Amino acid sequence: MKTIIEPFKIKSVEPIRMTTREEREGILAEAGYNLFLVRAEDVLIDFLTDSGTSSMSSEQWAAVMRGDESYAGARSFYRFDERVRSITGFPIVIPTHQGRAAEKILFHVLHRDGAIYIGNTHFDTTRANIEQLNDEAIDLPIPEALVPARMHPFKGNIDLEKLAATLARHGDRVRAVIMTVTNNSGGGQPVSMENLREAFRLARSHGALCVIDACRFAENAYFIQQREPGYERKSVLEIAREMFSLADASTMSAKKDGLANIGGFLTLRDEDLAAQARNLLILTEGFPTYGGMAGRDMEAIAQGLQEVLAEDYLRYRIRSVEYFSEKLQSGGVPMILPPGGHAIYLDAAAFLEHIPREQFPGQVLANELFLAGGIRGVEIGTVMFGKRDPESGRTRHPAMELVRLAIPRRVYTQSHVDFAAEVILEVHQRRTELRGLRMTYEAPFLRHFTARFEPHPA
Ligand code: F0G
Repeated sequence: MKTIIEPFKIKSVEPIRMTTREEREGILAEAGYNLFLVRAEDVLIDFLTDSGTSSMSSEQWAAVMRGDESYAGARSFYRFDERVRSITGFPIVIPTHQGRAAEKILFHVLHRDGAIYIGNTHFDTTRANIEQLNDEAIDLPIPEALVPARMHPFKGNIDLEKLAATLARHGDRVRAVIMTVTNNSGGGQPVSMENLREAFRLARSHGALCVIDACRFAENAYFIQQREPGYERKSVLEIAREMFSLADASTMSAKKDGLANIGGFLTLRDEDLAAQARNLLILTEGFPTYGGMAGRDMEAIAQGLQEVLAEDYLRYRIRSVEYFSEKLQSGGVPMILPPGGHAIYLDAAAFLEHIPREQFPGQVLANELFLAGGIRGVEIGTVMFGKRDPESGRTRHPAMELVRLAIPRRVYTQSHVDFAAEVILEVHQRRTELRGLRMTYEAPFLRHFTARFEPHPA
């Protein structure tokens, strides 16, 4: 059979509220034309993020009931610890309340004056945690990653030549090489095993720690199985183990490939680093056998990590994102190609060629998808990453103007995706009618969360 079905049936449903365009116009104006400020109940299909938005399985809910909420040495911790060790092969597992907490602890422990980190592309929280310590984060994606329509099977790879040169230039100031799998900021694109191995070989030869940001490790492993010669016959679990075996540490947000609504962890091999990390953990997260999670959260993650590696699940997962992209491509909608593992990234600069980047084409497009069909995505462009030069008042733009439509795991069905595609195609047909925005308020940091806009007068 050619049709790939959702490998589950639905036991519990949550209604979504239908709204009219007129109602949504009022909602959006009230929210200052910023979808972060819209209430979730006013959204029909929420593609804001795939983080913490998964549907849990009946086995996960059963595991929740088994949660042992003891402060120290809870049974749930040992179940969680054993599952993480058996999948990753790391001997040391430090639980945290989510991914960024694992990052914060790792970068505090590694911090030295003038420390540098190099990665394929640091995710925002990773970069922010590094910069908060006055350390530096350098992104070295391959050149193909910055051209949305350029096809490449492993667009998440790091540029190895530039990595070697940067390591040689900065020597032992480079504390770690961080490979984010899949590369979220670059389009949810996978990293090949070959690239991971070579990047870490170079890192190690310069004394840098080899770190995997593992949020979407299962999706990345599935892409390796499908696309990298020599891995066709390996199971996704074997591939994931091989990926982790190359690294000295990993940080994980269990809100993605943990199929859980909250949680995370840091894994290590070095006892000395682990002792320092645990001391910080006790200070900021909690005792080392729960680290900011409830026992029931650790149970849900232990079960989720097993389910996420099921190959029929991953086949359905990756195929459903690809199906969405094919529908859009058939109408000529510009986007990052090939589609990534967890999201579609619309190329708003190409979609809305007539709107100058100073008028936020990504924000305009995201807002119109909400007005037209109640769909919520997120701008990843000048609103999120643009920096205003205080002297000239001019804005420095990031490499791309994107709108990410992230697909929550096991939440929406094929007809939700069909509907979303219909909305986007309809907006694409009348794209020249859309008009720019002007920013009326911005906070000094992470402005996209609270910025306010109004329609541009021109
Ligand atoms: N690393 C990557 C690659 C991520 O995508 C995220 C979160 C984190 C780290 C931080 O994890 O949220 O558990 O603290 N990404 C979410 C997103 C927020 O929407 O892509 P966290």
